Amino acid sequence: MMIEEIKKLKEEKDALILAHNYQRPEVIDIADFVGDSFYLSQVAKGSDKSTIVFCGVDFMAESAKILSPEKKILLPVKDAGCPLAEMVDIDELKKFKEKHSDATFVCYINTSAEVKALCDVVVTSSNAVKIIKRIENKKIVFLPDKNLGEFVKERVPEKNIILWTGFCPTHRKISKEYILSLKEEIKDLVVLTHPECERDVREISDFIGSTKEIIDYATKTNYKNYLIATEEGVIHTLKKLNPNKNFYIPGLTATCPNMKKTRLIDVYESLLYSRYEIHVDEEIAKGAKRALENMLMLAR
Ligand code: 13P
Repeated sequence: MMIEEIKKLKEEKDALILAHNYQRPEVIDIADFVGDSFYLSQVAKGSDKSTIVFCGVDFMAESAKILSPEKKILLPVKDAGCPLAEMVDIDELKKFKEKHSDATFVCYINTSAEVKALCDVVVTSSNAVKIIKRIENKKIVFLPDKNLGEFVKERVPEKNIILWTGFCPTHRKISKEYILSLKEEIKDLVVLTHPECERDVREISDFIGSTKEIIDYATKTNYKNYLIATEEGVIHTLKKLNPNKNFYIPGLTATCPNMKKTRLIDVYESLLYSRYEIHVDEEIAKGAKRALENMLMLAR
């Protein structure tokens, strides 16, 4: 019933529904496109629909608005935020820019528009290594996720990368000890990890990538047992695409409370009442758009 209503409203409102891989299964199932932050930002920009319902967290919807200001971008739950994105203080960033005026400032897409506007280029977990390799400047400041930053440092040793100290509280809960104990039980366990995980987890992993890259890796390879070291939302798509493989989660703690706020009723009401529409200050949007477009160009 609710699903039918959502489909009807979607047609009436000329809308597209996007869902991040961490969303609830029922939201993933009604979305037109499901994916990681980078993929969804590209879909949002390329779509000819006038309205986009972004089932994710605020910085994702905000990025879509900045890249496509002519579209109506809706975030179904107003307070679906990202604690990692909140770990940058604007004044501190401005001071850091003065101190390191010779550096290229690279920010993760998990940041506010204001932070993006103060940086040179945005990256996501799927393109950070590629983009940082392509930046000419040797000196880079990367913010805010220290784990993704360390991961990039390992892969791009030729750069001098200065890190911020932010982290994702959900990925931080994923423990090496739990994974090792499961590996004792299941000897052929293949560990697939998001780069927001801590170093000790990354070190015992077989593959490190974005949510989409993790899903693609598990789908293309032919192992039987996979441990998925990221937010547990990706398990739904993994099981749908790979019904004969086993997927294990790293304990019961890797659930992002913000990603799980969006329910079907919120998507329905978002379409019905056109809420909550994203607006970005024009000046800030101009600066943030430059940094986001630099990402799209360098990721090609
Ligand atoms: P990706 O969307 O790049 O996989 O990263 C997940 C994430 O950190 C969302 O907050």
